[in-house]
Amino acid sequence: MGAGAPSPDAVAQGKKILVCVTGGIAAFKVVAVVRSLAETGADVRVVMTPSAHHFVGAQTFAALSGNPVATEMFGSGAAVPHVELARGADLVIVAPATANAVAKMALGFADDLFSAVLLTVRSPVLVAPAMHTEMWEHPATQRNVAALEERGITLIGPSEGALSSGDSGAGRMSEPEEIVRAGLRALGRAEDLAGVRALVTAGGTQEPIDPVRFVGNRSSGRMGFAIAQEAAARGARVTVVAGATSAEPPPGIEVVRVATADEMRAAVLERAPECDVTVKAAAVADFKPREAVDRKLKKASGPPEITLVPTPDILAELGSSPGLRKARGILVGFAAETEPDPGVLGRLAEGKRRSKGADVIVANDVGSSDSGFGAATNRAVIASPDGLTDVGLVTKIALASALMDVVAGLLRTRRSL
Ligand SMILES: Cc1cc2nc3c(=O)[nH]c(=O)nc-3n(C[C@H](O)[C@H](O)[C@H](O)COP(=O)(O)O)c2cc1C
Repeated sequence: MGAGAPSPDAVAQGKKILVCVTGGIAAFKVVAVVRSLAETGADVRVVMTPSAHHFVGAQTFAALSGNPVATEMFGSGAAVPHVELARGADLVIVAPATANAVAKMALGFADDLFSAVLLTVRSPVLVAPAMHTEMWEHPATQRNVAALEERGITLIGPSEGALSSGDSGAGRMSEPEEIVRAGLRALGRAEDLAGVRALVTAGGTQEPIDPVRFVGNRSSGRMGFAIAQEAAARGARVTVVAGATSAEPPPGIEVVRVATADEMRAAVLERAPECDVTVKAAAVADFKPREAVDRKLKKASGPPEITLVPTPDILAELGSSPGLRKARGILVGFAAETEPDPGVLGRLAEGKRRSKGADVIVANDVGSSDSGFGAATNRAVIASPDGLTDVGLVTKIALASALMDVVAGLLRTRRSL
């Protein structure tokens, strides 16, 4: 990782960018996207769905990109065209993304070149939806879009404004400059954690009462997994130490399973000294039963009296013992608060950052149905040495991305000192 961030255009030089054009009127605006990207020195390839040909000629995209346009799965001459196009792609932009294209991506279809490419590709994917307001607001589309975001795909827009039908409303494709900017940002991010070792904790701990019962919490693991996925997408080598989770861990990431706070502490302390970034997103129990009995407590014996004792505070231990961490490493903790007000969240985050000796604290609201445990979204404020960032109510993957922006910035600063 270099000391300074490269210029936005320089990150695109020589990069392979696939622009997938699907069948909406906004396809004409994507001509400007392809031209701008080609001007940065990127190797731009355009894939068009058969419907897209009704809106813009393939010749236009071929001339601007300097590459032939791909539409057909069969008969194009390439042995396996979807694999050839997808492999080695640094970035994929789907613009305009029709309701149909979004649905096919959400469900994992592969019945044409476009959808097969999207199922094969492993690079960051940006999607710029464009459709009439009714189609955009339909629950089916909203569910499909949420599924894409959950998978780490970045949505650009849509915005509100004039639509091709002459109506006005939500569903207008973002402007070409915005799509290009998002593309260059994604390319820059794709490498800003290259070479970084990251440790992320996720899920909740379970503190045994007897062989079948435990003291636990509602953590799903979604936030920690989103952070792991985002860090890996930006080039980090990631290990997740996970307690109990109802969410699935992201594919291709090392996961170490633990059950109790003590096991989590041991797994974290063993790995933290080698990690450039340690993110403690797990909901570790604050208290555990003083002793777990080794036989199931019988109902007939009546309600047991359970004495709780504190569990280790892993974040504070890491924060107060530099020897347990890598020199110049970044320690990130989470604060679960039942507090939606960003002003209060910010104060709580900064207070905990100082008291725990962490570099960064993310204070999130776990008291609302749309935020915190189990939800797809989170309302959060990030406190770092550079100040407070109010992220607002966003998807967990968007919060993970905002957090990794902060972490990458801190790493850059520390490495240049
Ligand atoms: C004039 C016209 C404009 C259209 N514009 C859009 C649009 O903006 N967004 C959309 O989702 N579908 C739009 N459609 C419908 C799509 O073209 C249709 O769903 C098609 O099957 C999409 O195929 P594709 O996703 O494979 O490109 C339009 C259709 C017509 C005839």
